[in-house]
Amino acid sequence: MSILIKNGRIITASEDYVADIFMEGEKISVIGKNLTMKADETIDAKGNFIFPGGIDPHVHLDMPFMGTFSSDNYETGTLAALHGGTTMVIDFVLQTQGKSLRHALEQWQGRSNGNCYGDYSFHMAVTDFNDETKKEITEMVEKEGITSFKTFMAYKGALMIDDRQMVGLMQEVKKCGGMVTVHATNGDMIDFLVSKHRAEGKLSPLYHYLSQPEITEAEATGRFADMAHYTGVPAYVVHMTCEGALNHIRDIEKRNQKVFAETCIQYLILDASLYEKDFDGAKWVMSPPLREKKDQAALWAGINQGTVQVVATDHCPFKWEQKKMGEKDFSKIPNGHPAIENRMELLFSEGVNKGKISLNKFVEVSSTNSAKIFGMFPRKGCIAVGSDADLVIFDPNEEHVLSAKTHHMNVDYSGYEGWKLKGKCKTTILRGQVAVDNGSVKIKKGYGEFIKRSKITGII
Ligand code: URP
Ligand code: ZN
Ligand code: ZN
Repeated sequence: MSILIKNGRIITASEDYVADIFMEGEKISVIGKNLTMKADETIDAKGNFIFPGGIDPHVHLDMPFMGTFSSDNYETGTLAALHGGTTMVIDFVLQTQGKSLRHALEQWQGRSNGNCYGDYSFHMAVTDFNDETKKEITEMVEKEGITSFKTFMAYKGALMIDDRQMVGLMQEVKKCGGMVTVHATNGDMIDFLVSKHRAEGKLSPLYHYLSQPEITEAEATGRFADMAHYTGVPAYVVHMTCEGALNHIRDIEKRNQKVFAETCIQYLILDASLYEKDFDGAKWVMSPPLREKKDQAALWAGINQGTVQVVATDHCPFKWEQKKMGEKDFSKIPNGHPAIENRMELLFSEGVNKGKISLNKFVEVSSTNSAKIFGMFPRKGCIAVGSDADLVIFDPNEEHVLSAKTHHMNVDYSGYEGWKLKGKCKTTILRGQVAVDNGSVKIKKGYGEFIKRSKITGII
């Protein structure tokens, strides 16, 4: 199979030029002006941007969590991602405390193998670091190509590890050539506030927000960065939401340390006023919660300063019936929100069109930096000869409206219902195959591949 894309405006993290792209099999083989080779399919992309396929390094598909499962599975989630220009996701395997990493990996493989439309990889969440787990770290890196290890400083009793385990894990991961990533919030402090609010009969979604004040995230981010500094492990903070946490990352740069930071699209464009809508606020119950306008400004600035490298989603959807598990008690609302399909278009419309980020920065934070940080570059995250032909043909002028009625995610509401956007993914190409074209699906379930990742240096 070969495809020739003519006359597109190619945007990478560092370039912006008009040219043709020829791909054969799964790879890009020629980029140049006025290409004339014969192809099985020729696409005229005049007037459109060509971006590298989006990479969302933070999604939770078919995940057992808070007594239920996230409502998008690998089939619906990766397909919705392709509709929105994301060709690859990194999902999380969660170790069950008391069991092995291998046991967890097999469970996640059982749900994902053969079911994905888009490409995918896993982070391994270590929730119980002990002598047995320690032995499995090398195996994950060397044999499975799973080179990032997720930790939780919250969700005590299910996912949280203590600082002793954190330092032990960091030392081992550093030895093996991996990276430690973190959900950085102070779990004990949050648990105290949750109990306090419940005891006072304060049970609406607003109290989810008030149980996780900015300090809980800022403190944990600083503590994590200090432990990463001590051990020297490459480190990455997921779903950063606030100025306080960002300032810790800014501070450690003064001591010549680098910790990568990811924010998510919702923290850039939504704010905590949504929790004032009674139970409707449950749509945005996620951890950490949405913050204030001043935090949005700090995060956009962090992106432009290069302190925040990635815009992900933390896509973790639950249907309204599932959210209603917490109708009488905010602490039982499954945490998470749907966005896997909307990330690229929201970031373009709210970020590029509104003058908050440049086109090159858009590509950097939605694709290239994830590929670099997580050991996939230059196979993924760029438009270059020899790279996977993962491409998005994007019409910057098409206007459309987000709605649960038209989205492809398996969830019966949208966190962005009625939002008017300018800029739409028209065609998504994955490893040389048109995957989605003008809303119609051209590949079969199972086309998505598990991508083994390289060791991580912490330098991009
Ligand atoms: O609310 C969230 N973020 N749900 C998914 C689990 C996590 O903490 O990332
Ligand atoms: Zn988290
Ligand atoms: Zn998450």
